[in-house]
Amino acid sequence: MRIAQFRCRNFRNYSDCRVDLDDGINVFLGQNAQGKTNLLEGLFFLSTTRSHRIHEDALMIKEDEAFSNLECLVRDGSDLKISAVIHEKGKTLMINRSACKKSSEFVGLLNVILFSPTDLNLFDESPRSRRKCMDIEIGKVSKIYTRYLSDAMHLLKERNSALKRPNLDEAFLDVLDMQLIEQEVEIIRLRKEFIDLLNEHLSDYFMQLSSDVKPISIRYVPLVEIDEHDKMVASLKEKMLKNRQRDQILQMTSIGVHRDDFCFMMGDHPVSSIASQGQRRMILLAMKLSLIEYVVNKTGKLPVLLLDDVLSELDSEKRINLFRCLPKSCQTIITTTDLDDCKDLDRKVTVYYVENGTVRKKGD
Ligand SMILES: Nc1ncnc2c1ncn2[C@@H]1O[C@H](COP(=O)(O)OP(=O)(O)OP(=O)(O)O)[C@@H](O)[C@H]1O
Ligand SMILES: [Mg+2]
Repeated sequence: MRIAQFRCRNFRNYSDCRVDLDDGINVFLGQNAQGKTNLLEGLFFLSTTRSHRIHEDALMIKEDEAFSNLECLVRDGSDLKISAVIHEKGKTLMINRSACKKSSEFVGLLNVILFSPTDLNLFDESPRSRRKCMDIEIGKVSKIYTRYLSDAMHLLKERNSALKRPNLDEAFLDVLDMQLIEQEVEIIRLRKEFIDLLNEHLSDYFMQLSSDVKPISIRYVPLVEIDEHDKMVASLKEKMLKNRQRDQILQMTSIGVHRDDFCFMMGDHPVSSIASQGQRRMILLAMKLSLIEYVVNKTGKLPVLLLDDVLSELDSEKRINLFRCLPKSCQTIITTTDLDDCKDLDRKVTVYYVENGTVRKKGD
């Protein structure tokens, strides 16, 4: 998959900007606060329908403007034009100029894997942030996952309301639980598959990046063991029933996929308690490279890799290691403030100057 062209209007500090991208490595070069990350944010939005750094979409609209428009020409066998309009009241998504009814139709048509310095918080943040990250990545390759998840969250809301009523309707709760459990079993299965696939590659990438042989893994303990469908359902049902009285007192559902978490491990210890800043960066990069493998495994297609501000924090040896790890035919966009950071790249690089909300291709 390739991004052939990207255009943004009234987006962040851009009025109207069009960029034709090269199939290989694209370097966005510019001083601080010129709009490099904004471009990657726009691409991430077109991939996931959300920003990677803020919750409120309207903040991405250029100051004093009414709406933003993002557009991308995706080359993926045939050409696909995807676009999004962000306005005060929400967003409109379009595929080849036809409006999209559900965002799940849109998510993942462009699949970008983004490394952002803000991701470094992932190790210490709340389980909710880690779950969100996992849900975004699985959702990009599996529409059915998004369906299960949204159905489960809807049922969970209903269950929590039922728990708040003065007279608990046990029969109603039984029905809700069964419906919820059906979704949860599938969610657990897909999450486990996701983590297992990442774990196949994590240590190897970490070693290639950092020349460190410490094993890296993600520990995910599913609510119930992966087994035949009926056995998983039975085991979840038992757990839910056991917790029902407690749930009634708490007036909320205390177990379920909405409480899932995973933990990055370095050997036998959580990354959050032993890894240095540099190691965390390498583990995160190893995770992003493993995500590429996951996407290829699930879709047969290479995603586009976006690396924001990664080079300046690496010593020259690690930079060379990273360049070696970049999958050969994966379109990549790298932002930097110093072109010197790219001097060890052994591949053709297309450079774009980013300055005060404008982008100019070197040589144009
Ligand atoms: N809604 C908005 N309207 C207008 N300008 C905005 C808006 N949101 C952010 N900006 C501007 O965008 C610029 C920041 O852009 P960005 O984060 O892409 O910088 P950058 O080039 O990545 O810098 P750095 O190298 O420091 O990371 C700032 O000048 C900021 O004021
Ligand atoms: Mg930036």
